[in-house]
Amino acid sequence: MSRADIFQRVERIVISKASDRESLKSVAEALREAALSWDWVGFYLLAGGVLKLGPYSGEPTDFTRIEIGDGVCGTAVAEDRNQIVDDVRALDNYIACSLKTRSEIVVLIRHEGNVVGQFDIDSDERAAFTEEDETLLEELAQIVAPRCASLAAAL
Ligand code: SME
Repeated sequence: MSRADIFQRVERIVISKASDRESLKSVAEALREAALSWDWVGFYLLAGGVLKLGPYSGEPTDFTRIEIGDGVCGTAVAEDRNQIVDDVRALDNYIACSLKTRSEIVVLIRHEGNVVGQFDIDSDERAAFTEEDETLLEELAQIVAPRCASLAAAL
């Protein structure tokens, strides 16, 4: 799927009448379909000072709550910057949702200047994520931010 197709698809999903949860689930599914190496695509939402698992596409995970500073997801919030990890096995504080996962990207989602959540994407391939993926996800983050803020406020 081309970059333009992904944008169009996500925009269409976000403006639909679906609930925030349904809409973000569809975005996760669309992104997982868009890239073969993206094996798990999900949202963690920042609510009450912790990251809570939002809609996702992929294997179910036990990690429904991640403290700020923990794992790749919590580190992104603590350091206020996106994370690209080429080899998760080289990390000390990695939280393994799946033993098959080899690389991961986390891109923060901001709404009205505040972090409201993040994209978290895992791949079974080593070094699957590039700076181009980060840029794409940063742009998509702007589109989904109001939906994430609204869902985070309800958690
Ligand atoms: N690996 C993440 C935890 C979330 S799972 O990937 C779904 C981390 O280290 O924060």
